[in-house]
Amino acid sequence: MDNGAVLRIEDVNKSYAGIRALQNVSARFGPGLTAIIGDNGAGKSTFMKILSGVTLPDTGSLFLNDHLIHIASPFAARKLGIESLYQDLALADTLNVYANMFLGRELVRRVLGIPFLDERQMARLATETLDQVRINIPSVHTMVRSLSGGQRQAVALARAIHFKASVLLLDEPTAALGPKETDSFNQIIMAVVREGKTVIMVTHNIPQMMEMADRVIIMRAGQIVAQTDPKDTSQEEIMAFMVGSRRAV
Ligand SMILES: Nc1ncnc2c1ncn2[C@@H]1O[C@H](COP(=O)(O)OP(=O)(O)O)[C@@H](O)[C@H]1O
Ligand SMILES: [Mg+2]
Repeated sequence: MDNGAVLRIEDVNKSYAGIRALQNVSARFGPGLTAIIGDNGAGKSTFMKILSGVTLPDTGSLFLNDHLIHIASPFAARKLGIESLYQDLALADTLNVYANMFLGRELVRRVLGIPFLDERQMARLATETLDQVRINIPSVHTMVRSLSGGQRQAVALARAIHFKASVLLLDEPTAALGPKETDSFNQIIMAVVREGKTVIMVTHNIPQMMEMADRVIIMRAGQIVAQTDPKDTSQEEIMAFMVGSRRAV
């Protein structure tokens, strides 16, 4: 992956039919792991969807390395080096591993000027990336529907790595995984973080976040109510911010 980028959000607002999902949200994300936590409905996914181009903000600005950007679609986000993994393990079930990795960005070779999918090259590069991150998948020819949850997330992660994302967005990436798969997934994430990438992860697992994250952002009712280094806080304090019994001074 490329080096981590600085992603900055200024005064973002988003409403859905009268529900203010995000209110005047400003934040700055640099290299390292930032965890976003908050109760259901706090606006975490809306925030991630705006960063990944799935949802457009009503107002507000986004900057990547100090350049104003418009993320009008997931495709536009990817072109800027912003890749996303979702909690629902969104992959194309009826395609194999390498086809998923190159979905929408297929490699093409030309024979007498006629374009053909370069299946062999895609399979080779997919295998290389999976090996590189030590992701254990039987074969890149395996249909994605027969993979475990952890393996599916690993394919999505390998896709981000292959395409040199500098910002990685994870919205509850281990929600559908068992404890063992969660552990190995988190290890890969930490390796990515150590490389100096900018990783933003929505999570419900506060103890794990306290261990992994460099920074924690707490959201409540569409707003960021606190931002801190997990070393400077406690689980009790985080919970208090989440439920609103404590407010930032
Ligand atoms: N597509 C949508 N249409 C209508 N309301 C939505 C939509 N997406 C989110 N919301 C509302 O916005 C608020 C924030 O939701 P969300 O960002 O999914 O929160 P979280 O991920 O923190 O649980 C909630 O009140 C939710 O019901
Ligand atoms: Mg959510």
